Amino acid sequence: MADAAAIGPRISGVARKVPTWPVYLGGIGIGAWEIWQGLNAIDPVDALSLGLGMLSLQFLLASLVVTPLMRFARINLLKFRKALGLLAFGFLTLHFLVWLVLDLQLRWGLIWAEIVKRPYLTVGFAGFLLLIPLAATSWQGAIRRLGARTWGRLHRLVYLAVILGAVHFVMQEKVWTMESLLYLTAALFLVCVRIVWIRAW
Ligand code: HEM
Repeated sequence: MADAAAIGPRISGVARKVPTWPVYLGGIGIGAWEIWQGLNAIDPVDALSLGLGMLSLQFLLASLVVTPLMRFARINLLKFRKALGLLAFGFLTLHFLVWLVLDLQLRWGLIWAEIVKRPYLTVGFAGFLLLIPLAATSWQGAIRRLGARTWGRLHRLVYLAVILGAVHFVMQEKVWTMESLLYLTAALFLVCVRIVWIRAW
């Protein structure tokens, strides 16, 4: 039987040989499939909004699992973290656009009124806003300009954003479901792990 301690480095070794483009391609494929399914649903606007919202939260959580995997299981998937984060942001932007274009039908006057009136939209919108500077500084030149330390601190905003996203998921439901509460638990767990770790340094 393989030594458990050797599994992490072995997976890391395989991952090192895999380029990042298949992750982008796979993510785009999953997004395209979700959009295709949404367009063919009985209520396309609802299906598109829900499908893209779920994908965004799932990819955001996946991007946050990468660092604990490295630290606790020595599985190094760090090279895929940016792809997962950018894909999450892409799905989120589409999720927002479905609401803006298909749901509100670009009635600009309503945007702010809706965001202020409905707490689940206020929370989701705050999460979306927090992710914009992170996506905008995800390229190598931004890390150089900001300095690794400032860049790292800025990118801690992702922890607040994922909690807001998961709370928004719970809030938008008429009745709380086990599914949404599990997503919220996963988000809180990952953030707690991170906080304990930051404090320990
Ligand atoms: C971090 C930010 C966000 C995340 C992770 C997120 C994720 C989600 C998730 C997982 C759902 C439920 C999907 C389901 O039940 O299958 C949802 C629903 C929804 N979200 Fe978001 N969302 C975010 C931001 C936003 C923003 C900025 C808006 C628009 C201003 C928005 C509008 C909606 C709407 C309209 C629904 C559907 C509510 C309903 O029809 O019952 N979301 N979102």
